[in-house]
Amino acid sequence: EKGGFKHYMLKEIHDQPGVLRQGLESHLLNAQIALGPVQELYPQVEQMQIVACGTSWHASLVGQYILQQVAQVPTTVHYASEFRYAPPPYRPHTLTIGVTQSGETADTLAALSLEASRQLTGTPWLLGITNRPESSLGRLVPYVIDTRAGIEIGVAATKTFIAQVTAFYLLAFDLAYQRQIITQEKLELYLANLQKIPNQLEWILETQTPAIEQLAYQFQEVQHVIYLGRGINFPIALEGALKLKEISYIHAEGYPAGEMKHGPIALLDKGVPVIAIATPGTVYDKVLSNVQEARAREAHLIGVGSAANSEIPDLFHVNLTVPEVPELLSPLVTVIPLQLLAYYIAAHRGLDVDQPRNLAKSVTVE
Ligand code: F6R
Repeated sequence: EKGGFKHYMLKEIHDQPGVLRQGLESHLLNAQIALGPVQELYPQVEQMQIVACGTSWHASLVGQYILQQVAQVPTTVHYASEFRYAPPPYRPHTLTIGVTQSGETADTLAALSLEASRQLTGTPWLLGITNRPESSLGRLVPYVIDTRAGIEIGVAATKTFIAQVTAFYLLAFDLAYQRQIITQEKLELYLANLQKIPNQLEWILETQTPAIEQLAYQFQEVQHVIYLGRGINFPIALEGALKLKEISYIHAEGYPAGEMKHGPIALLDKGVPVIAIATPGTVYDKVLSNVQEARAREAHLIGVGSAANSEIPDLFHVNLTVPEVPELLSPLVTVIPLQLLAYYIAAHRGLDVDQPRNLAKSVTVE
């Protein structure tokens, strides 16, 4: 049932092109985005707030970026465990989105229940983005986007992350189009680019795996790793670090690259690899200059960047190549090498990748 892969996690990483294809197919009807009843709220929504934990929280940060930059909807993201005891003041016309793969995470459910109790009349404005519509979440919220990634067995979330991010793209593109923030041509362009991604993910999996497997051997003695990203790829730096921590037990931190000089740069030396996401876009040059600063501290530099960038090979010691895609869609490709790297580091160490110590697949207690 692992499809010939050594672990479920590796199988699920390889499932991702199919998950994305399926996610797009099931939410597009006659080239129109079809997200169901939640669309009836679009005209009235003034802002959004998202509650989630862990990897789902990272997907939410990507979602926030797209909702704000494309759909122009003010959006905040909260750790569900913080929101439930210190929610922001109640504001009407707010859509609250709970993102949870399992639909059973206690803190996320509690945050949504709290929000429901503050909305005194009518159907609560609660949207769930989940892989399990039949879960407790499904019973709690009136609106659901089913991410349809198929059951995920590895404790470390991979394919469900991609599916959650895809749900946010569709929500933001649809909202932007319905509110006439983007034209039909623009919408079609976004969707066409999105539909190219599954093949691009296959390309990464096929061509980059040998280099990543090799690179993973160099992490045998490493104790700390820094992940850098900016803009829409800052959440991917966080996600890369979380994947490494949870399955390999190596300490890792994700930072927005521009924040390095405000403290974390003191950590850098030869023994602390720096993995930077440097794909073309608004903050590309900025990331490269942040990486230069790390280079001056003799850090071992690993870049996740696109093949087309000639600067990249000179700056980094190792390059993990991803196809060049529009900046807005880049998280879908940049996360893949980081998942693979975390996987191979843990697998080389002989660890129980699918069942890391101290972790459960769904966290149903506070
Ligand atoms: C990380 C991971 C966890 C979950 C978190 C939320 O790989 O799996 O961080 O993302 O426990 O779980 P869900 O999405 O089920 O609410």
